[in-house]
Amino acid sequence: MAHTSPSPKAFAMSGPLSGTVRVPGDKSISHRSLMLSALAVGESVIEGLLEGEDVLATAAAMRAMGATIDRGVDGVWRVHGVGVGGLLQPESALDMGNSGTSTRLLMGLVASHAITATFTGDASLSKRPMARVTDPLGTMGAVFTCSPGEKGNQYLPIMVRGACPAVPITYRLPMASAQVKSAILLAGLNTPGITTVIEPVPTRDHSERMLAGFGAKLDISTDADGARVISIHGEAELTPQHVVVPGDPSSAAFPMVAALLVPGSEVRIDNVGINPTRAGLIEVLQAMGGDITLVDERVVGGEPVADLIVRHSALKGIETSPDIVPSMVDEFPILFVAASLAEGKSVFRGLDELRVKESDRISVMAKGLSAIGVTVEELEDGLIVHGSGAATLAGGATIAAELDHRIAMSFAIAGLVSAAPVTIDDMSPVATSFPIFEAMLESLSAQ
Ligand code: S3P
Repeated sequence: MAHTSPSPKAFAMSGPLSGTVRVPGDKSISHRSLMLSALAVGESVIEGLLEGEDVLATAAAMRAMGATIDRGVDGVWRVHGVGVGGLLQPESALDMGNSGTSTRLLMGLVASHAITATFTGDASLSKRPMARVTDPLGTMGAVFTCSPGEKGNQYLPIMVRGACPAVPITYRLPMASAQVKSAILLAGLNTPGITTVIEPVPTRDHSERMLAGFGAKLDISTDADGARVISIHGEAELTPQHVVVPGDPSSAAFPMVAALLVPGSEVRIDNVGINPTRAGLIEVLQAMGGDITLVDERVVGGEPVADLIVRHSALKGIETSPDIVPSMVDEFPILFVAASLAEGKSVFRGLDELRVKESDRISVMAKGLSAIGVTVEELEDGLIVHGSGAATLAGGATIAAELDHRIAMSFAIAGLVSAAPVTIDDMSPVATSFPIFEAMLESLSAQ
């Protein structure tokens, strides 16, 4: 799954964008649909699965642990699961590529099975902190052996020896992380008794929705401090499901911002997930003056979905509240680009988690935006962006995307509103989450 040769590409000033697009399936829901289907007894069917490298890494890992997973010529995926407790020991290391979600959630699954698995990843993933999952899963009884050289944290490659039976825990999340929450809940599936996660700040709730949808017993309440308390009853039995994956709001963010920024644009994005734990960007862009209309709001496969109509708008700067960060944690790079063309200053704080994504997204964005003529101030936990007030950006630089798909796509969109083209040093990481990104942009500018 390693990217052997970089694939540079220049993005130049664009005429108006128009047309209708569908973005690929939600990445978070795609991972979870494969994992839960692989643990159900019988055949699950998945429609709209994101066929990006990250999700394919999850599929390969679930196959290596015993599930049968096939893609039909119709693009529908069929999964025959092994049952909770039935995962087999993989014969070789599980290559997680660039995918933090695969790694952390699968470590949760392995942690409560009587198997040993080794997780490896690419250069970006091998720098991402894993103690956030190995600490709580270790308390449940799993044993982790990490590569040497960890700086007070734990990094891939990591060998996990699962505990069976594992010990149920009650764990208060020290950071807002759906991956950590999900790793513990997934470990709880095959743990006798009740495993509880306390979440002071709500994060995406796909795991809770889908675990319940597959038949696990979950209790969800709010404690006296307003924290969400999520308990899963082990040892669960999952029943196969027909999953329909909605379009990924984190991918929709790119055509959305492109349409807002490129003068004369009007773009319709169909079938976008608008789960409130994911929809912060729409709210922020509307507050900045973005003309975004939600039409035909409906529920698909247990998730709220809408079609979005987005028109070019004059944006004004904004200061976001740290409370909104978890509901748009992956959207800040592209929001920084939107803020670069807004009127006035924007202040984004509470973004500490951005420093441990596929790259350090605060510093990589600050460096790249400065290189294309935007005035920014990097803060320890955020970024201040001085907007151009709709004037085109200078552009004319090559951006190091640092193996980060969202950095690459954000600067590609910046190129559409820059006087001189913006070159991305390597677009190949985009295949992790949005393989049709360039084709989608071409279809919008061709019309
Ligand atoms: C994800 C959770 C988020 C997000 C990631 C996907 C998930 O990570 O950034 O892209 O599917 O649970 P954190 O849990 O680290 O915030």
